[in-house]
Amino acid sequence: MVVLDALHYIQGHLASDLAVRWNCKAAKCGSCSAEVNGRPRLTCKTRVDSLPMDEPIVVNPIKSFPVIKDLVTDVSWNYKVNKKITPFTPKPNVEWKMYQPDVDRVQEFRKCIECFLCQNVCHVLRDHEKKEEFAGPRFFVRVAGLEMHPLDGVSRVKALKEEMGLGYCNITKCCTEVCPEDIHITDNAIIPLKERVVDEYYDPVLKMVRKIFGAK
Ligand code: SF4
Ligand code: SF4
Ligand code: FES
Repeated sequence: MVVLDALHYIQGHLASDLAVRWNCKAAKCGSCSAEVNGRPRLTCKTRVDSLPMDEPIVVNPIKSFPVIKDLVTDVSWNYKVNKKITPFTPKPNVEWKMYQPDVDRVQEFRKCIECFLCQNVCHVLRDHEKKEEFAGPRFFVRVAGLEMHPLDGVSRVKALKEEMGLGYCNITKCCTEVCPEDIHITDNAIIPLKERVVDEYYDPVLKMVRKIFGAK
């Protein structure tokens, strides 16, 4: 029995108007995110017998987004952020060939199920409510998948720095800890993106080279 089963039992037997969002019950749709005993989790992936049985199980809606009803939150802000990201744009006249290591590298980022548990736990959104200035770890994962794609021809480095607030991330790794897809959000997505921003904006050697050769 998983926590989602327990919620369905409550819905079926005790409170038929309990609002719970779910779809797959297979940890693949990302709909059933909640805070179980204070920890952000997928309720369909959290076994009841993995929790202390001598005390009640407490299930709360994810905190970073407004509650619509009971355990259902309004996560539509995420879709607005997503729309602002320049999608995959192939280099002109590119040969459509990729090497396996390049495929493997971006494949990790494609595993995201948009559960938004990482968005929920990130203190920049959760405690500081920087939704206007900060896109959040889920979208750094998406941008990493695009920026590291060998056939993509667009740079999103300026947007990362100026619109997506990458600098607010202080690499606490809380997002990585809660990701049900085990995406190494900080090590494999955020840190390489931060390096790209530093190279672009703060590397004194590159700055000098650009000055001498007039390169952009
Ligand atoms: S590592 Fe960065 S993005 Fe992830 S939770 Fe911490 S501050 Fe947020
Ligand atoms: S990166 Fe992981 S935690 Fe964040 S939305 Fe995707 S699957 Fe969920
Ligand atoms: S119901 Fe789909 S991830 Fe839990």
